[in-house]
Amino acid sequence: MTSTALPATGATTTVRLARALPEEFDALLVPVFKGEDGLELAASGLFEEDIEIAIWELLSAVGATGAAEELTRIPSIDGIDTDFILAVGLGEDAKLDDDTLRRASAAAARSLKGIKTVVTTVGTFGIQPVVEGTLLGAYSYTGHKSENPESSAPVQEVIVYSPKKSAERKFQRGVIAAEAVNLTRDLVNAPSSHLYPASYAAIIESLAAEHGLEVTVKDYDTLLSEGFGGVVAVGQGSARKPFVVQLRYRAPQATKHVSFVGKGITFDTGGISIKPGASMENMISDMGGSAAVIATIIAAARMNLDVNVTATVSLAENMPDGHAFRPGDVITHYGGKTTEILNTDAEGRLVLADALVLASEDNPDVLIDCATLTGAQIVALGNRTSGVMGDKKVRNRLAEFGRKVGEHAWAMPLPEELVESMKSPVADLRNVDNTRAGGMLSAGCFLRNFVGEGIQWAHVDNAGPSFNTGSAYGYTPARATGVPVRTFIKFLRDVDKQTQKELKAAAEESTQDS
Ligand code: BES
Ligand code: ZN
Ligand code: ZN
Repeated sequence: MTSTALPATGATTTVRLARALPEEFDALLVPVFKGEDGLELAASGLFEEDIEIAIWELLSAVGATGAAEELTRIPSIDGIDTDFILAVGLGEDAKLDDDTLRRASAAAARSLKGIKTVVTTVGTFGIQPVVEGTLLGAYSYTGHKSENPESSAPVQEVIVYSPKKSAERKFQRGVIAAEAVNLTRDLVNAPSSHLYPASYAAIIESLAAEHGLEVTVKDYDTLLSEGFGGVVAVGQGSARKPFVVQLRYRAPQATKHVSFVGKGITFDTGGISIKPGASMENMISDMGGSAAVIATIIAAARMNLDVNVTATVSLAENMPDGHAFRPGDVITHYGGKTTEILNTDAEGRLVLADALVLASEDNPDVLIDCATLTGAQIVALGNRTSGVMGDKKVRNRLAEFGRKVGEHAWAMPLPEELVESMKSPVADLRNVDNTRAGGMLSAGCFLRNFVGEGIQWAHVDNAGPSFNTGSAYGYTPARATGVPVRTFIKFLRDVDKQTQKELKAAAEESTQDS
């Protein structure tokens, strides 16, 4: 039997919302600003003025400046029953934004390793970003290490103080978004020894059951008989055969349908066009697109968004073997289009092609695919900025939302000459052209051929942003990042908001009529 749970997950903290200070806590986290005349302490309203002044004096004496993400630890003072006070800088008051709050909360959470209970008053400047930054920043993955020292365990509990009534919804939204990101990280961090198409499909099935999502699983025999030539070709060289899984969330009030497609290559050796050995281990992350779309649909369901959402993922392991597909092969995709294979390492687009055709059958309003598709994305935009291609409106919206939530993204074109260069003399298409020019864009041009008529489509290449090969920064840990889950959630929330408006207008109209 295949296991239906991940064998290892990252550790993070837990958060709780409180309207008043709890009886007991080990540390107090307070926000400070960089003012024109030096350090400024934001009044929380929790303490007498002389206590606030004493905190400010102590922080000033040890040189705190209030610069963004600066951390200053001081002993507690009379009147506050806690072990120590940690001040976190938020920079200049006038420049404060959500991402500063997220990064500051993350830096603070990380520096509180091994502590039991902390109260933060930073949430008075924005509940959702503080909750997100805390849960995302505290995350760390030690996987299959036999022993983890207690001192390196994340802070156990962060109590987010807010006196406001409206805090509860924002708090919940932050928790759901951060948990979706951390689920993505857990899936992407899992090594390919443990996460392979069958085990991944089983995990998705159990997640679907847990969150009340409809699920359809196509196994290898089904893929063969239904003609999923792209997924079959890529997966046939592995002893662990491929799967295609679809999840559906249906909202009773929805007027729009957003369909996601994700690349789920559980390991990419390159196949017969084998990759060089250096850094090949990072290819455990080649299912980052699929993990992001699965976590997104779960978040949509947990938030009860009024949007119909579908997620389709192609799961395969790209291996060289006696059964492997080869350069020169011609394959027939689901739906009938043919592709000449010139490089078996350009496998992501092949499994996505089948999935895009399948997802198009529902005729969704918007189709968004996400894939760790090309090294060329990293050459063009670096490690932290996803490339977004496709139909102008949805492409630009995703790029803008990405930047808004701190998951950097940039709109890229699909140039006509690259559309041409993806055509083959012996098949409808070829999977690579004969230059290296614009490799991220030509991959996008290839995918466009598989999107149904009249469907608004965007393609997100997150090859670099999905996996951080360096060390932690901001709220991004080492290894899997969970990008671009929060961008997708924001996109869906925007559709939900438009739907609410439409529903309200329709309701008003019907009361006027009667
Ligand atoms: N999975 C890789 C892309 C990738 C590279 C992801 C680096 C993350 C980090 C993809 O399947 C691939 O190998 N693409 C080739 C395409 C080429 C053969 C046209 C590449 O980018 O080299
Ligand atoms: Zn590849
Ligand atoms: Zn790949």
